[in-house]
Amino acid sequence: MDERSVYKSIGREENLTGISRRVAQISVSAIKQMPVLARNVPDAVSLGQGIPSFGTPAFITEAVCEALARDERIGKYSLQPGLPDLKIEIARYLKRKKGVDADPDRELFVSCGAMEALAAGIATVVERGDEVLIPTPNYASHIEQILFAEGTPVYVPLLEEQGWRLDVDGFRKSVSKKTKAIIVCNPMNPTGAVFSRKDVLEIAQLALEKDLFVIADEAYDFLVYDNQEYLSFASIPEVKDRLIGTYSFSKMYCMTGWRVGFMYASSRIIDQVLKVHDAFAICAPTISQYAALAALRATNGKDGEGDRFIENLVHALDTRRKLACSRLDSLEALFSYQIPKGAYYVFPRIIGTPLNSMDFALKLLYEAQVISIPGNGFGPSGEGHIRFSFGGTEDEINTAFDRIHEWARINL
Ligand SMILES: Cc1ncc(COP(=O)(O)O)c(C=O)c1O
Repeated sequence: MDERSVYKSIGREENLTGISRRVAQISVSAIKQMPVLARNVPDAVSLGQGIPSFGTPAFITEAVCEALARDERIGKYSLQPGLPDLKIEIARYLKRKKGVDADPDRELFVSCGAMEALAAGIATVVERGDEVLIPTPNYASHIEQILFAEGTPVYVPLLEEQGWRLDVDGFRKSVSKKTKAIIVCNPMNPTGAVFSRKDVLEIAQLALEKDLFVIADEAYDFLVYDNQEYLSFASIPEVKDRLIGTYSFSKMYCMTGWRVGFMYASSRIIDQVLKVHDAFAICAPTISQYAALAALRATNGKDGEGDRFIENLVHALDTRRKLACSRLDSLEALFSYQIPKGAYYVFPRIIGTPLNSMDFALKLLYEAQVISIPGNGFGPSGEGHIRFSFGGTEDEINTAFDRIHEWARINL
């Protein structure tokens, strides 16, 4: 059984009769499958899916309730590229955060989460046989999105011992005549790496030299620790014509269920991506666009309620990061790990058992009642690792690590 069919086998039996090759070859990512399996494990505690424990803040939900009471447009389709007022606020946000002058009318579209923006962007530029360079390990859905577009993912291993650094030379050596794009997720899921300014600029340079698109997944761009410098691809004017930048409200405002994000790209690209958006979604949920508008209106880059919320969120997640790291330190016979610098994931190497990542994750689930995500769901060099999210509460993190400790004491 190959790696991909392992994932299929933990879901429902598949009957692929009549199913297109395009769809038959892709899978639901392990990130989503493990919580589904865990439904049958009473009292399981999660270090699995990347959902922060906090609810959507009141300054967003109250604005939506008010709009529901007085504005019937909230229950209707919005304009297909998104609410014009929201796009104006997004452009202001991009200017403030990244120094970008985005034309709200032509260079932005509001998507059903960053996920739809990524899928639509990849489908727009990648076609059958095109190669797309991605780091490995990497966010699992990028792999499925490339395959869905009938492209070929070409994996470039990250440099684990250098804090999961980008191997720019490896990227350069992997370019072929068929290479169409590079996908970079920064800050990174699943490793928690934040790529250096130098490496980001070198990837941008490579894209320019080799005429490649840069697909930047920057869903965690607000979540960087230890004052680490962060360079967004959107802030590099030279790549603008080849950039597909995707962003999310999910993590920054604890809005994972609202399904709203956006894309920043040149008008040439946005015009094409909107065809895909129309075919798959028509528009992002209008109610969620109202929520995103309230979120950005409360965020002014200084002392707005949104700014305070984000600051507290980053602070709380930093505390949880330190807690998760200290718990990992006391499991040094089982794991070795690189300290995460961004997002809310850590991706330890499993050193204390010969189990592969899937078997290990299943044992943690069924024997320790801890949900985790096996590393082999994140591309070839994910094997031998496990992804833990520290988005949960400190209590959840402590309970999960207590259980792993106990499991290791009995089994190793
Ligand atoms: C790296 C990365 N990109 C994109 C997404 C999807 O974001 P959204 O909820 O905005 O679709 C996630 C969600 O976990 C993610 O981790």
